[in-house]
Amino acid sequence: MTSLLALAVLAEYSGTLVVINQTPYTWEQTYVHSYQMNEWTFPQSIPPGETANIAVGFATGTGVTVSDDGGEVTFTFLDGFDNPWSFQLQARAPSDNLNIQAYMQTLSAANNPQGSTIPLGFLTTGLFGSGSSVFILSQFDDSPFYTNNPPTAWMQSMVSYLGFLTLRNICMPGSHDAGMSSIDGSTAGVTNSDAITQTNSIGGQLAFGSRYFDIRPVISSGIFKTGHYSQESTGIWAGANGQTMSSLIGEINAFTGDNAELIILNLSHDLNTDSGYVSFTSSDWTNLFQQMLEIEHLFVAPNPTTVDLSTMRLEQFIGNGEAAVVVVVQSSVGESTIGSYASSGFYPYGAFDVYNSYINTDNANTMMNDQFTKLAQQRQSPDDPLFLLSWILEQSVADIVGSDSILDLALTAYPMLFAELFNYATQNSYPNILYIDNIHNADVTALALAVNNFAQNI
Ligand SMILES: *[C@@H]1O[C@H](CO)[C@@H](O)[C@H](O)[C@H]1NC(C)=O
Repeated sequence: MTSLLALAVLAEYSGTLVVINQTPYTWEQTYVHSYQMNEWTFPQSIPPGETANIAVGFATGTGVTVSDDGGEVTFTFLDGFDNPWSFQLQARAPSDNLNIQAYMQTLSAANNPQGSTIPLGFLTTGLFGSGSSVFILSQFDDSPFYTNNPPTAWMQSMVSYLGFLTLRNICMPGSHDAGMSSIDGSTAGVTNSDAITQTNSIGGQLAFGSRYFDIRPVISSGIFKTGHYSQESTGIWAGANGQTMSSLIGEINAFTGDNAELIILNLSHDLNTDSGYVSFTSSDWTNLFQQMLEIEHLFVAPNPTTVDLSTMRLEQFIGNGEAAVVVVVQSSVGESTIGSYASSGFYPYGAFDVYNSYINTDNANTMMNDQFTKLAQQRQSPDDPLFLLSWILEQSVADIVGSDSILDLALTAYPMLFAELFNYATQNSYPNILYIDNIHNADVTALALAVNNFAQNI
């Protein structure tokens, strides 16, 4: 009996809940309660701008009914309101599925009315692996509050508050190797674990809020697809194809039919896999542009051949209530092929020039230090050129052999983005693109909204 109890007490599913307050208000803890939780302790107050990392432990083991585990904590905005706003964070484990959720007690937020509950999940890696969860609430001036479940058209909902900002002033999520959510043909020996970077197609990533897409066009059996290839030291090309260009176009059009958002497609790493893995010729580019003309709402700027899109205001793209899709192309051949397509929404790389410097490591701490050092160097004012925070880990040979997939690695880096970003970002130095693998919910969009609100709050 004693040993059973000891086991019951020792065993737990533990992890961290990151709570981000990017509202102008101090949150006071006004109620706390838990049953059978090993860890459920919150700070008495969470001031504006603060990120709190909370240890969470669900009890499990012999003699413990995990589904009975539960915790609640209420935070109230005590800033002299007659009817102060409050929300409650809750730990739940229905059918042993661990979850943290946010209940909008008296608070209402954009897309989350008072009384609604937002599931936050409790992402675990492996058996008894550490779980992670994040709750983000942000607001600027008299804008609505934004949570982890923002409106799908989140940029449009921001336009009336922050539409005067240029793209250099704004933060948005971006998708690494956006087309690689499924494999449609590969070279010998390439497996899902080495080629899949996303678990949702472009349409899913758009719905979760990603707005900047790394698109690598390839020609395979005469068809334009997205791809992910690299040349090995032996000179041999290895890689795989992902979504076809036609499905990508279809999903973008379906999305912009309902959502007047700004979407940026960055085309690079062009490769003709049909004829010796060479770069596109100018007629390949023309054929690709011709197909991409099927994208609706392609955005044509004034002076499209000389414009710097990054200095244009958000409202100039989508303020008229229409979507805006921008296609950015680089390659000596691709850029010179743009020609008359410049009047259709195709731009040279200089029109949306993003600082993008990744580090080749599979270690999340090394990657983080590298990226935040570069951020501090590159961005010292909100008007400095665009910076992409490359929150990406690269597989080592050992990872590939040991079958640590790209998605496994991404999972080790993912929670750190939320826990650490506001320890490094300042109002003068914050990233423009939060660039990640596996966009699987709107958390990173909520984080981008929090950065935007943070950057403007005084
Ligand atoms: C965008 O394209 C440029 C060149 O065309 C490339 O160097 C850069 O890496 C691409 N950005 C991303 C995030 O993939």
